[in-house]
Amino acid sequence: MKGLMRTNEQRESNGKSRLSRGRFSEYYGGWALIAGASAGLGAAFARALAGRGLNLFLIARRESLLNSLAEDCRRQFGVKAQILACDLGDPDFVEKIQVAVSGLEVNVVVYNAAFAPMGEFATTAPDDLLRVIDINVRGPVRLARALVPPMVERRRGAVILMSSLAGNQGTPRIATYAASKAFNRILAEGLWHELRSQGVQIVACCLGAWPSASWQAPRIL
Ligand SMILES: NC(=O)c1ccc[n+]([C@@H]2O[C@H](COP(=O)([O-])OP(=O)(O)OC[C@H]3O[C@@H](n4cnc5c(N)ncnc54)[C@H](OP(=O)(O)O)[C@@H]3O)[C@@H](O)[C@H]2O)c1
Repeated sequence: MKGLMRTNEQRESNGKSRLSRGRFSEYYGGWALIAGASAGLGAAFARALAGRGLNLFLIARRESLLNSLAEDCRRQFGVKAQILACDLGDPDFVEKIQVAVSGLEVNVVVYNAAFAPMGEFATTAPDDLLRVIDINVRGPVRLARALVPPMVERRRGAVILMSSLAGNQGTPRIATYAASKAFNRILAEGLWHELRSQGVQIVACCLGAWPSASWQAPRIL
């Protein structure tokens, strides 16, 4: 989030950079779309962005959680909030999103969802390994490719791709997941350089362990 808020013009005299809620919403304007918003960090991103005055477009599979988060954010922050219940593994998910957001100025995109099966590579179902690629690799590429061009046209926008400290080195029992997180970091670095002169900021969020409900769920390591 800090990267999103940092511009040279808005540096405060104490050296910290932070846009006020008004300046943040003025700078990014319009809507923030969060793919994987119903729980955990995605819901935290939603609240943080709504708190800075952006309207929310929330995507995940669990519609009831999306509805209550949207209602909370409308009430607490006075922003607009829309939802789309959809599986980011569906082959046509991008088309569904494009139809749903047509007419909305989406200037911030967070691709937060991930699939992280744990276990030995040799015994994990091949379909699960490929679903990691679908959700964690193809998903962010396809969504960014669909939503970045309008940002470039407007010369403003930001994309956050979720990486992980697990993406910094090969990791047993989550090797495919870790590789997918390395992909997101490298993708973000390249896009950051390519798009910065066109007014679009790209950030990779390289998170350490954070106790979301799914992270705390019992799992065999
Ligand atoms: N927690 C950590 O310690 C940690 C550490 C490093 C990196 N990260 C990264 O941070 C991100 C969020 O982690 P988290 O722990 O907050 O995860 P989480 O609690 O499992 O939340 C994931 C969110 O993504 C949605 N989602 C998952 N699969 C989806 C699909 N196929 N289609 C649509 N939505 C989907 C989930 O909603 P539905 O189930 O309702 O669809 C949920 O809203 C992930 O990219 C993860 O790799 C997390």
